[in-house]
Amino acid sequence: MIYKKNNLRIDGFDVGYLGRKYKTPIYCYSLKKINNNIRNLKTYFKKINPLICYAVKANTNLRILKEIKNNNLGADVVSKGELMKALKAGIKPQNIVFSGVGKTSEEIKFAINKKILLINAESKSEILEIEKIARSKKKSVNIGIRLNPNTDAKTLSQISTGKKENKFGVDQKIFLQLVEYLKKSKYLNLKCLSVHIGSQILEYKPYENMLKVVDRIIKKSNYKFEYIDLGGGMGIDYNHNNSKLDLQKYSKNIQKFLKKKSCKIIFEPGRYIVGNSAILITKIIYIKEGYNKDFVILDAAMNDLIRPALYGAHHRFLPSKKTKKLAKKAYEFVGPICESTDTFTVIKKYQKLNEKDFLVICDVGAYGTSLASNYNVRPKPIEILIKGSKIQIINKRQKISELM
Ligand code: LLP
Repeated sequence: MIYKKNNLRIDGFDVGYLGRKYKTPIYCYSLKKINNNIRNLKTYFKKINPLICYAVKANTNLRILKEIKNNNLGADVVSKGELMKALKAGIKPQNIVFSGVGKTSEEIKFAINKKILLINAESKSEILEIEKIARSKKKSVNIGIRLNPNTDAKTLSQISTGKKENKFGVDQKIFLQLVEYLKKSKYLNLKCLSVHIGSQILEYKPYENMLKVVDRIIKKSNYKFEYIDLGGGMGIDYNHNNSKLDLQKYSKNIQKFLKKKSCKIIFEPGRYIVGNSAILITKIIYIKEGYNKDFVILDAAMNDLIRPALYGAHHRFLPSKKTKKLAKKAYEFVGPICESTDTFTVIKKYQKLNEKDFLVICDVGAYGTSLASNYNVRPKPIEILIKGSKIQIINKRQKISELM
């Protein structure tokens, strides 16, 4: 994203041009960014040679999934629907792991039939259910157990998953009991220990703590795990102030952790791969004078991007045309939805904006469209992908008639 003669451009395309051509709101992705992110991850973790399973929930667009598959990544899925999409994109079953606390019998059967790499179980009940299904099919099934390491990820509480009060995984005591149980199971092969402590993690310490807990429990369990699935969670720089997770340190720590172990590391990154790859182009419908700030009313709303309303998450806002003139009052950027939480951000000092101007909401590639809804019977936005010098429509704008 750069300004050329004060006009904002993404991969060489003028944002105003895109706004006029495709009408707003638009989710606009850069393939270059996705490929770069994947390349970065592979480089940082080269010495570990992990299996990288993209967390499909971050962005489920089939064309994006196909591009991710073209980079030889696997997938981490959490529902039958996600599994079907991953397979449809051409991701090999032997590179797919299935996570989640509430897999239904139907989902488990489907996963077993598709011969995916691992079902990462999150409770004793789930293990018994998988075993029952495996026995009835007379098939042996590879599974993992998700450990709840009781580690603080130091991220937003709503996206923390690795503390004992969270619903995810099993505690250490139960973990050890389950390992003992599975050592004797005829139909289940325990292959993996999995953890995932949270999302948008920028501090490196939580990962270090997590690895210590995992190391300890492996020793206690006296079991040879073929895979250690360390989950995802790698954070990105939403504030654009160089707050980055130190992946080099994380990688070194894993190398240390792997000494005297012969297991394969699995990662499940979602946000890191697609987060910064997309912008949401929106148009100002009205600017309304408020008490001590002005409301900039956009044609994108919380149904298109719910992260600010749901988590108080911050996304950078950029004008499509840069000017030096400052607005007299603070701006609050809001959507047209009938809820006070339909607000994106308040910015005290911003350039003067005009009605019909285009704006860009940055870093919306992860958990943008995948969390979008039709609230207020609003159709979901068009999605376009910049691929070199070409633009592909990768999802048409929904029609209101489809929502009737
Ligand atoms: N693996 C498991 C088991 C997960 O639960 C998640 C995310 C991931 C991997 C991928 O995490 P990532 O690398 O993307 O951080 N909607 C929220 C994020 C929820 C994340 C849920 N689980 C947001 O917009 O911030």
